[in-house]
Amino acid sequence: MSAHTRRLPHADLLAALETRRSVPAAGLCEPGPSADEVRRLLAIAARVPDHAMLVPWRFILIEREARGEIGALLADAYRAGNPQMPPEKREKFAGIMSRLFPAPLAIVVVSRPNRETMIPVVEQEMSAGAVCLNLLHGAQALGFSGIWVTGWAATNDEAQRILGVGEGERVAGIVHIGTAKEPPAERPRPEVEALVTRWAKPG
Ligand SMILES: Cc1cc2nc3c(=O)[nH]c(=O)nc-3n(C[C@H](O)[C@H](O)[C@H](O)COP(=O)(O)O)c2cc1C
Repeated sequence: MSAHTRRLPHADLLAALETRRSVPAAGLCEPGPSADEVRRLLAIAARVPDHAMLVPWRFILIEREARGEIGALLADAYRAGNPQMPPEKREKFAGIMSRLFPAPLAIVVVSRPNRETMIPVVEQEMSAGAVCLNLLHGAQALGFSGIWVTGWAATNDEAQRILGVGEGERVAGIVHIGTAKEPPAERPRPEVEALVTRWAKPG
């Protein structure tokens, strides 16, 4: 193939990109990815644009019995962190925290920007965001569904400590992966043409 020959379109890839939808974590069930599929997913995730190849991200996997264990710790942390809250309300939210990992697999994408380099932190954080999206696309390509979330567990200091997020690190996303109980309905999408201008020389 010459350098000027346009490659044939990847019809399956286009169809996947044009139809991708998230499925809420509670709507994801077994089967989840096998150990081989998880390795493949992580390799796809790591294949993102990364300015200066700093690898400014890492992964924490939450699967099997770890899901319940971490849920219990997060629920306790929520209770301890909200002593003023009316008990009924606090228990309601603690219950939600205890069930934060219902899908077969959750991958915490940890952003760990290198502050010693010339590459701006925001660029490194965007690379971590790309990791999250690659995980979703990879999951879809393997026949699974997923969703990228953040929320309390991704931002609260004690919750981050429980997740295993260290000093100088942040949660870019928690990507839940499994099999969709039901196919997701379409959601409204932006009118793309309304977001586009075509550059004209400034007057
Ligand atoms: C950084 C980031 C954080 C998000 N956090 C949440 C979240 O905590 N809870 C949630 O329901 N959706 C969250 N979303 C939105 C979902 O990932 C998803 O985009 C949304 O449900 C729309 O579905 P779609 O991906 O099919 O368009 C987040 C998205 C991004 C990019």
